[in-house]
Amino acid sequence: MYCGAVEFVCSPSAVSHIPVLLEECMGFLDPDQGGHFADLTFGGGGHSRAMLGANPENTLMAMDCDPDATDRSLSLSEEFGQRFRFEDRSFSELDQVSSEEEFQGILMDLGISSFQLMEPTKGFSFRLDAPIDMRLNPREGQSAADFLETASRESLVRAVREYGEERRWNRVVNAIINARGTGVLGRTMSAAELVASAVGGHRSRQRIHPATRTFQGIRIAINGELEALALTLPKAFRGLKPGGVLAVISFHSLEDRIVKRFMRKMAGRPEHRGDSRLIDERTSYGELIKSKAIFPTKEEVEANPRSRSARLRVLRKIRNPQL
Ligand SMILES: C[S@@+](CC[C@H](N)C(=O)[O-])C[C@H]1O[C@@H](n2cnc3c(N)ncnc32)[C@H](O)[C@@H]1O
Repeated sequence: MYCGAVEFVCSPSAVSHIPVLLEECMGFLDPDQGGHFADLTFGGGGHSRAMLGANPENTLMAMDCDPDATDRSLSLSEEFGQRFRFEDRSFSELDQVSSEEEFQGILMDLGISSFQLMEPTKGFSFRLDAPIDMRLNPREGQSAADFLETASRESLVRAVREYGEERRWNRVVNAIINARGTGVLGRTMSAAELVASAVGGHRSRQRIHPATRTFQGIRIAINGELEALALTLPKAFRGLKPGGVLAVISFHSLEDRIVKRFMRKMAGRPEHRGDSRLIDERTSYGELIKSKAIFPTKEEVEANPRSRSARLRVLRKIRNPQL
């Protein structure tokens, strides 16, 4: 799982975000051939820049719901002019800003960027003391602090156990409920300490901070990340031209499961790989370019530890499914 616990070796102002699986994505999206592309998760624009730079004829529409991404998009507007367009909104609104069969290739690189993780005011990181917010789009929704103070036990269990995949979820949920009204749940570091002591502290052989899983689960819950992904994949597929490619990088097993199932369904395959020879031509609207997920190389993980839990899935569209 993506832990969001990269070691910080520089100040927030010096942050950069290294695009994950860049070569692999470009290999499948093939922007060198020229065309109109979409990057639904602009972030710092690493993948967008590579797609635009691959061919002087390329055009690209990028989306991101983090208002800070708009600022970062300005440098691409300057560099690429009319060839680049940025939409400050959730990718689940893709159909409101594009047409069916518009794009040659669409990329989704899910989760959060290093910029977001390293910005203390966003409250994603337990290594930077700040109010615990965690909203991708802070202009709407509920902050993590409000969620921790008010969510039902059931919602907390979903966040910590299901989305966070925390084995000691029961202890964590109890600790959160018991800490309500004390102020501990309002800040990143105090909340992280609470979670760490609930799961039994940092064991020496543990690679990630003991609050990592819980923090990730809370982030996924308050941003409705899995719901947004499930809603967007069919829209992205419809947005592709026949022959176009959808590439999705995920960092979490539940995200990957949603992507895998969607892609297999579009390819007319049963949900599980055991039956992969049975392809139903009547319900086959795309083809899996690779039947398995693609992982970063050892060299990439060494150079960019953030990439270690990334996996890429790619689907080529044949035609639109009938509604
Ligand atoms: C991993 S980063 C992308 C990094 C980017 N590929 C790059 O190379 O710089 C993911 C980005 O997706 C954005 N994001 C996540 N969920 C979103 C949603 N529902 N709608 C729009 N953007 C979203 C986040 O705000 C974040 O900036």
